[in-house]
Amino acid sequence: MMLTEIDHIAIAVHDLDAAVAYYESTFGCVVAHRELIETDGVEEALLKVADSYIQLLTPTRDDSPVAKYLERKGEGIHHVGYRVDDCAAALAQVIAQGYKTIDQAPRPGSRGTTVAFVHPKTAFGTLIELVQE
Ligand code: CO
Repeated sequence: MMLTEIDHIAIAVHDLDAAVAYYESTFGCVVAHRELIETDGVEEALLKVADSYIQLLTPTRDDSPVAKYLERKGEGIHHVGYRVDDCAAALAQVIAQGYKTIDQAPRPGSRGTTVAFVHPKTAFGTLIELVQE
């Protein structure tokens, strides 16, 4: 079993501050981390829930994948991040079985993690992120 825990559920939103305020005031959530990821064109806020996070995502530019997602599908769940011990090994396993991936090799994620994305097309409609801490 390669997936050790659910790291985060990512939710695409138009207004990051408004979404953070909603989770804070409605559920008493606390922002554990906030980061601008320039290469992906997103800003994220991580709110801790037990050992996992809710990851609120908003685009920082029009050509970011999250901007396109919002345009097509509107706000809502964007991807699920699973923790793995070895991102490269987990990704290689997906590729070896002939399934589609977004990334061909692991790359830096937020919080100093190493990540790789698995394509939703051959994953029953869910964009999957493999997260190694
Ligand atoms: Co993520």
